[in-house]
Parts: sequence; structure tokens; C-alpha cells
Amino acid sequence: MPAWLESAVFYQIYPQSFRDANGDGIGDLRGIISRLPYLRDLGVTALWLNPCFVSPFRDAGYDVADFYRVAPRYGTNRDLRALFAAARAHGLRVILDLVAGHTSNEHPWFRESCRAERDARSDWYVWTDSVWTRSGLDQPVVAGYAARNGNYVPNFFWFQPALNYGYARPDPRRPWQQPAGAPGPRAVRAELRAIMRHWLDLGAAGFRVDMAGSLVKNDPGGRATAALWRGVRAWLDRAYPEAVLVSEWSDPAVAVPGGFHADFLLPFNKPGFTSLFRRTRPADTPYLDRSGRGRIRPFLEEFLPLLAATRGRGFLALPSGNHDAGPRLGTGRDARDLAVAFALLLTLPAVPFIYYGDEIGMRSVEGLPSKEGGYARTAVRTPMQWDASPNAGFSAAPAGRLYLPIDPAPDRPTVAAQEADPASVLQAVRRLIAVRRAHPALGAGGGFAPVLATGGRAPFVYRRTAPGEAILVALNPGGKPCTARLPRGAVAGPPRILAGEPGALRRERGGWRVRLPAIAYAVAATGR
Ligand code: GLC
Ligand code: CA
Repeated sequence: MPAWLESAVFYQIYPQSFRDANGDGIGDLRGIISRLPYLRDLGVTALWLNPCFVSPFRDAGYDVADFYRVAPRYGTNRDLRALFAAARAHGLRVILDLVAGHTSNEHPWFRESCRAERDARSDWYVWTDSVWTRSGLDQPVVAGYAARNGNYVPNFFWFQPALNYGYARPDPRRPWQQPAGAPGPRAVRAELRAIMRHWLDLGAAGFRVDMAGSLVKNDPGGRATAALWRGVRAWLDRAYPEAVLVSEWSDPAVAVPGGFHADFLLPFNKPGFTSLFRRTRPADTPYLDRSGRGRIRPFLEEFLPLLAATRGRGFLALPSGNHDAGPRLGTGRDARDLAVAFALLLTLPAVPFIYYGDEIGMRSVEGLPSKEGGYARTAVRTPMQWDASPNAGFSAAPAGRLYLPIDPAPDRPTVAAQEADPASVLQAVRRLIAVRRAHPALGAGGGFAPVLATGGRAPFVYRRTAPGEAILVALNPGGKPCTARLPRGAVAGPPRILAGEPGALRRERGGWRVRLPAIAYAVAATGR
């Protein structure tokens, strides 16, 4: 386990929307380099870049056409190498997005695979053996696309053909379902490592793996896919022991034993993550809600078992948001609400990922036409809001040429305004990151024990511990003050407030009471 991951705070950059250095309206690598001082001052320690490789961009770059080359719209391989080096000079590591499960239909490998005659790539994708093989399959196929007499299996959108990692349980009646040990899948696995080696040698610190659980088909419980990744991990541990693998699997109990250093909690199949931040149905109240009706239990019921399942082997990764999940954290929340949200995100035993712009409370921009396969996701992909200059400081291009329009709201948050405002979300996030980094108990691997999670009007209180250190965190996202007596032993020594409400803990008849105003939090060192 690379030691740096335990205390890492990640920042996710959607490259096309972060900062445009050459004025063509699209964010680029030079733009990211120019904002490294901002990221260093924010205090994050690592960056995750969404795919920045050659692509027709029908799914915003998740349709890769050349895994070895930076897309010209973002710059060159040399620019990426320069970013790795400049980031390191600012104390930041950079991980890339590894789209392991599929390519673009325009990838030369797929074009070769489409030929009627057999060639070196025929078995690199999953093809049926006839265009008439369509029904009774356990996944959809695209029929009639190519000269080849067969249908291919898409992994996500139709133009993202699945690479052939084989089948865990190939159907004997369908010989086109190859076992994972067949020559095609073996060649694809070797290529995957070559791609990783290429970027690690250039200075990447690891990868966020896209749809990591999707590789081997008909794979109940993800067992064969996990075995594949364990092989990758064993190789990494030998060849690149400092590199990290973070999965978009959203099943940490499979992904972490399967070789990933961390797996994301995402709003896909489990309600817990969503229950913290997001109102998925009008009837749901997330925990972080002013009404005070939100409950922390649904989250804990999911989180605690996952923590237990991954302890000592790897981490859970907790994002403030991402390029797929709407609405943005900032939608419907003000600076105080957001400070409480970040107090939670940055003190839980998980690797925090801050989605660009969430640290200033950027909001979803609804109603935009779909961009590059974004559909509803387009709302959370608009350009970073830097300052009050034209295009919010994102780009010098005419407004009509921007990748996506800037949030038109007259009160849209910006970095510049929040730098000048001590009560801003940005300042709270900075403080919380600094506290997290200064205290090992708050790291992803530190101890975690809920102290008060009763719900109702009581604050949510938990203890984080590391050898020689104990920290108490108390949260009140609700719009009314709240108070509770703490159980014996929750506070071992005289408390020292590290962030949040200075008067949150008071002595009372031999014990301690926590008292929080409306929408408030406290992080306090409480001895050991
Ligand atoms: C992942 C990405 C998403 C992409 C999909 C297909 O879910 O996060 O943006 O569209 O995979 O690669
Ligand atoms: Ca540009």
C-alpha cells in the first residue's frame, strides 16, 4: 500500500472545463498547470484527470481511440509530462483515467476487428459468430455494424465496444464466448499493462479505473474480474509500488480484495452515499439537509459493514460529486450548509475526492443541450468559475465558443470572491483539509466509532483515532440548534477545537455536553 494514499485528499479535474490556456474555448493541460498554485493552496494532495486521450468525444473522452496519446485539444504527451512534473513540484500527484473495458468504435483495433477476414485483432473484442445471434443473450449486442459476420457487445454506449477479457463461464453452446485464458483476452490483458506502464513511466501516480468491474463477462460476483485485477496489482506492487489503483466499481467488498487500493462509494446500486447528499426522489431527505429531517443511519448501515470488509486491505473513496452524478453538492445549499457537508466528507475514514468547483459550491446548470454524450450529466460539467472577468476567468474565447456555457446565475460563486471572504465555503474547505492533513486520526485508515447517531434533533458525533490521538467530530446540518450529553469516555482530555464552533464542547457534572448552533460543526482534539 503506497503510504501517501492514507492521508491523500484528491481533486477531480474535468479537463475540458477547468481552465483554457490557449483561448480555443476548451480546457487544456497548460490551463491545469497554470492553476497548480491554487490547488496547492487549497491543500489537496492529488489530482484525478478524466480521460485526456485521443477520442472522437462521443462520450466526453470515455471513448478512447488511442490510449497512448493525449488528445490534441488538451495538448501533447509532453504537456502531460510537464503537468506531472509541475504538479510534483507543488506537492501533488496526478492519476489518470484508465478506460479498461472498452474503446471507441473508431479505435484502429476495433476497425481491424470489424474486418470479415480474420486478423490480429479479431479476438480483441467480444463478437458473436453470426449477425443472427441476438436473442437469449445475457447482454445487448450491436447488429449489422460491420463487414464481419457477427455482432459486437457494447460496454456502455453503442460506440464503446467491449474489449475481450473473456467469459468467466463461457456457454458451451456459444463458442464465441472465449475463456479468460484464450489468446485474445491474454493479448488484451498484456496491452492493458503496456498502457499503464506507458503513463506510469511518464510520471502518472496511478489510475482511476473506469467501470472496473465490467471486464470479464458473465462473471457472477465479479470473481474472475477481481482475479484479473489482483494480477495487475501484484505486478504494480513489484514494478510501481508507489502507484495507486482506484476503482469505479462501487462494490468495495469485491473491489478492494480484488486488488484496488480504494473503491468509490457511488450513487449506482447502493442508497447510502446518496442518502448523505442527494435528494433522489422528492420524498427523500438527505442527511445533509436544513430541515433537520435527514437521518445518518441509512449511510452508516451501509458504510460500517463496507469499512469492516475493507479494513487493513484498502480504503473507501468518498466523492463530493463527480462528472456523472447530479445535482452538484452546491445546488440548494449555502456556504454554511456546504461547510457542514465538507466537515463530514473530510473527517470520515475514507479517501475524499473533491469534484472541481464543489469547493466553492458551484451549482448544476440545468436545461443545457446534451454535450458529448453527457445528457443529464451535462449539468455538472460546466466550466470552473474563477473570477468576475469574462467567462468567469475560464477562457478568453468568445462566450459562444466555450465547451459549455458558464453558469448564468448572477450570484454564481467564484474562487476570487471566496478568497476574499473568510466565511466562504472555500475557506472552510481549506481549513478542514489542513486539519485533516495535520492529524493522522483523520486519515482514511484512522479508527472510526460513532458516538451519537440517534437521529432526531441530536447531533451526529463520532470519534476518530490514531496511536496517541483522538478527535471528536460533531455535526448539525439542521436549521435549529441542538445539544446532547456525551457518553462517558467520549472526551478523554481537555478538548481543543481544531475547526468549527469554538464553544461546541462544555463540561457538565463530571461529563461533557455538545452544543451546536443551527447548521454547524466542530472538530476537536480530545486527548488520546
Ligand atoms: C464511467 C464514466 C462515465 C462514462 C462511462 C463509460 O461510468 O464515469 O462518464 O460515460 O463510464 O465509459
Ligand atoms: Ca484550450
